[in-house]
Amino acid sequence: MVRYAAAAAVLALSLAGPAFAADGGQLFAMQCKMCHQAASTAMAPSLTGVVGRKIASAADFTYSPALKGKAGTWTAANLDAFLKSPAAFAPGTKMPISVPSDENRAAIIDYLKTLK
Ligand code: HEC
Repeated sequence: MVRYAAAAAVLALSLAGPAFAADGGQLFAMQCKMCHQAASTAMAPSLTGVVGRKIASAADFTYSPALKGKAGTWTAANLDAFLKSPAAFAPGTKMPISVPSDENRAAIIDYLKTLK
């Protein structure tokens, strides 16, 4: 019941219009920044310049074999698939966070483009 109420509230907000449009920077601060800092840490690789970068290529981070084994670059489409379900994109990845909302993923990816 509580979950339905929460979903209804979110739906109401999203129907309310642009004033409530997802803010990628804010979403990143809430859901990603506790692990992803400006520079790589033991917790997570740096996402500075990640859009267009080769997958699993930050020199100063030890990736899982799962992500290290992926070919390709972080295009918007790859980021979208990864953030929708990291485990489906790269089974065995150490990245634990998924972003189920299409709108929130798009906003976060737009924000990642600004990290240069
Ligand atoms: C609990 C810590 C944690 C959180 C929170 C987290 N990540 Fe990650 N992320 C990781 C780890 C660890 C990896 C490396 C995964 C691997 O090696 O398999 C990673 C990898 C990534 C990569 C691939 C980077 C590369 O260099 O190839 C992207 C993109 C990414 N995360 C985006 C995000 C976004 C966007 C969020 C927020 C919605 C987020 N992450 C939240 C820990 C986290």
